[in-house]
Amino acid sequence: MNLVRTFSDARASYKGTVALVPTMGFFHEGHLALMTAAQNSADTVVVSHFVNPLQFDNPADLERYPRDVERDMTIAEEAKVDVLFAPTSVEMIPQTPLTAVTVDGLTDTMEGVMRPGHFAGVATIVTKLFAGLQPHLAFFGRKDAQQLAVIRRLVLDLSFPVRVLAHPTVRESDGLALSSRNTLLTSEERLAARELSQGLFAAVTAVEAGERNGPRLESIVRGALHSSRPDYGELASQDRVERLSELDRPSFLAVAARVGKVRLIDNIAFDLAAGEVVADRGLRLKHPSLLYR
Ligand code: PAF
Repeated sequence: MNLVRTFSDARASYKGTVALVPTMGFFHEGHLALMTAAQNSADTVVVSHFVNPLQFDNPADLERYPRDVERDMTIAEEAKVDVLFAPTSVEMIPQTPLTAVTVDGLTDTMEGVMRPGHFAGVATIVTKLFAGLQPHLAFFGRKDAQQLAVIRRLVLDLSFPVRVLAHPTVRESDGLALSSRNTLLTSEERLAARELSQGLFAAVTAVEAGERNGPRLESIVRGALHSSRPDYGELASQDRVERLSELDRPSFLAVAARVGKVRLIDNIAFDLAAGEVVADRGLRLKHPSLLYR
């Protein structure tokens, strides 16, 4: 594996087609699944590793965000990643940026409301990664469904020659979506955190029984939050991230809640196949996550 710190060193180490997996590090099986999908689709896999300060609206959240580059280098090496791009802050953000990428409309709900400036930070850094690393493909997790919509739209609007591919959410064995933030939960909070996925799975059961009403599905999700403090539970369209009164198109049911000091998000995507609604429940680990290794 090549560990590189600059865009030009990353590009100099490519052979053939290039797939990018953008990350903020502290790898877990969700990242590994993206790396494997990337390896199956391109000759060179480059994983970016940068905790992007531009996307944190809360300095305490940025400070707390888990970091361990040595650990991540070992995991990336074991995963046979070709290039680990771990830029210095100066490489990524040479000066206080005077340019920002904002994606309107799609960011007027959910995370866009709860975390002002978050998506401009994501869109700006992903634009820099696309411009500097010039991948043919880029892989993102479906756990960040609104982020995925924002990135797909920025690729379309800015004509980036990048194909964006999404991968199902990877979950711990009890259903909790993998997130580096799970490591910040106390054991009591870790139990409470299950409420997010429990509410989503209860809503999937209702969908399978024929429920299509948006507000009723949202209230099932919110009704499962007892120990966690809800920020939102919303059904939205996958492409425009517009709140839906009926589940009648590709959509996602999203939840965000605070468990202690930790804010968690999760969602279930609903796709339509031959007129049927198909829920993407994600993939479940059968063993403890490497998050706790
Ligand atoms: O999903 C993430 O980890 C981040 O938002 C991303 C896409 C790497 C941008 O910093």
